[in-house]
Amino acid sequence: MPQRVLASVAWPYANGPRHIGHVAGFGVPSDVFARYQRMIGNDVLMISGTDEHGTPLLVQAEKEGASVRELADRYNRVIVEELAGLGLSYDLFTRTTTRNHYAVVQDLFRGLHANGYMIKQTTRGAISPSTGRTLPDRYIEGTCPICGATDARGDQCDTCGNQLDPADLIDPRSKINGETPEFVDTEHFMLDLPALADALREWLEARDNWRPNVLKFSLNLLKDIRPRAMTRDIDWGIPVPMEGWQDNNAKKLYVWFDAVVGYLSASIEWAWRSGDPEAWRTWWNDPEAVSYYFMGKDNITFHSQIWPAELLGYVGQGAKGGTAGDLGGQQGNLNLPTAVVSSEFLTMSGSKFSSSKGVVIYVKDFLEEFGPDPLRYFISIAGPETTDTDFTWDEFVRRINGELANEWGNLVNRTVSMAHKNFGVIPEPGELDATDRALLEEAQQAYTTVGNALQACKFKAGISEAMRLAGRANQYIAAMEPWKLAKDESQRERLGTVLYTALQVVSDVNTLLTPYLPFSAQKVFETLGGTGEWAAQPRVEEVTDDSPREPVGAGVPEPGRTYPIITGDYTQQRAVWRRRELEPRTPLSKPKPLFAKLDPELAQTGPAFAPVQ
Ligand code: MF3
Ligand code: ZN
Repeated sequence: MPQRVLASVAWPYANGPRHIGHVAGFGVPSDVFARYQRMIGNDVLMISGTDEHGTPLLVQAEKEGASVRELADRYNRVIVEELAGLGLSYDLFTRTTTRNHYAVVQDLFRGLHANGYMIKQTTRGAISPSTGRTLPDRYIEGTCPICGATDARGDQCDTCGNQLDPADLIDPRSKINGETPEFVDTEHFMLDLPALADALREWLEARDNWRPNVLKFSLNLLKDIRPRAMTRDIDWGIPVPMEGWQDNNAKKLYVWFDAVVGYLSASIEWAWRSGDPEAWRTWWNDPEAVSYYFMGKDNITFHSQIWPAELLGYVGQGAKGGTAGDLGGQQGNLNLPTAVVSSEFLTMSGSKFSSSKGVVIYVKDFLEEFGPDPLRYFISIAGPETTDTDFTWDEFVRRINGELANEWGNLVNRTVSMAHKNFGVIPEPGELDATDRALLEEAQQAYTTVGNALQACKFKAGISEAMRLAGRANQYIAAMEPWKLAKDESQRERLGTVLYTALQVVSDVNTLLTPYLPFSAQKVFETLGGTGEWAAQPRVEEVTDDSPREPVGAGVPEPGRTYPIITGDYTQQRAVWRRRELEPRTPLSKPKPLFAKLDPELAQTGPAFAPVQ
């Protein structure tokens, strides 16, 4: 039976173009995983969208002198193009400013409130004494009381990953003018995390397949668990769906309360867009379905604590009990994450990526110059899977020229060239000898080894193993010397056997690399005489916001707006996770080089869009 697999991908803020650090964290790993799951026959639903609320957008809108709506519209489009260009195969990539998202978020809030997990409290909020402005989240900075980092923000410290309250910050200061804020009483709704702590612990303790540091970090969070404010003194966000609150334009839901609900709301949007409005339920209500969440490490808290707490409270599974809201379905269940797969950070030549300091490589520039697969390759084999990792042009050139072009591209090129030149078709093999059989056997084994790695989200191990097999095929060719066989008419059958064996292994390596390098995998498939769609690619489509769900309150999005989504039909592709036996006599044409070699100069200079300083 195919398994239902939800591939939940972190939602990028629509506050600027994405850099390669972003897509190293959430993008490439999630797509490799989803493509593998489809190839083994599972039913994948891969969703995400742009995260368009919160102070990150407000800060940037001020900088650009644009309204926050304009900003969100602009970068939503930019990000959609970037992610589609990288071949990220979302079933739906949407945004958080849809009517559907607003309505689903409000439903979650109401359910949590009805079950007693949203409690109204008076807390201390920061304001600027000179302007009277409230200073939520990114508008206030200070020293982290937990790790001592001096750039902690009002809601979170990125250095240690802990959630904070603005009043916790040591030496707080306004980001706007540097002054010391005043703290005043303000009313907010708090998520009663202590009432959900036992349920959270029980769930976390049953996780056996997480990256160890992610699980340890998440369990540790339970030690200092307190109620957290889920509303903000801010005018941009989803209205709090409560009497006396929803029309108040100065208080909205906290961006993290709403963004994580996106996984559910996007699944719901995908279902009605595909004509079966209840279709999302099998991924969410059926306990047999699994869900994998992909993100950078600064997002762990929200996925291993806040989101599961929202789900548990909504279906009434915390210490206060309660009833399950409609979204829980007949079983009263919404699945908690099976796995939270988080990456560490990618740095650039030793520094943190920073658009303002010019330490940045934008995805768009990268794609224009090098195309998607070289970036996908680099991130998969040398990305920050389990430790912070540095990107340098030197290493990029070495990996692309030395590995991707030399080891893999050349292998494809010379095997197909020789077969084309000597036979014009995939040759008929004669009797296989022990060496031929050993190589074919090794390739057969690799489906298990690489598959196990991919299932465990060990992407680096998976691609390394596939590349090792390519290396074995190169050694085989070096040892068999088919170019010598080609000169001796009496060796023609042996030549055919060697080339057949090599081509079969090329085809196997190509299958193993398909989740990682879907664009070149399509080309290799065609080079080997295959026809049709091997690896499906996403497309960008313009849609209308005509959700049947009705959000409430001031400033909700108007119906009828149009926006771009990423979607695709990935079920017709031919790629499956098993050997495709090559058909002797399939015509071959002269191959074109698969990967362009990079100018070795690039290692020192970097490209014009990101020169080495
Ligand atoms: N926008 C957040 C960031 O870039 C990620 C949100 S992930 C979500 O850090 F799940 F909450 F949407
Ligand atoms: Zn800290």
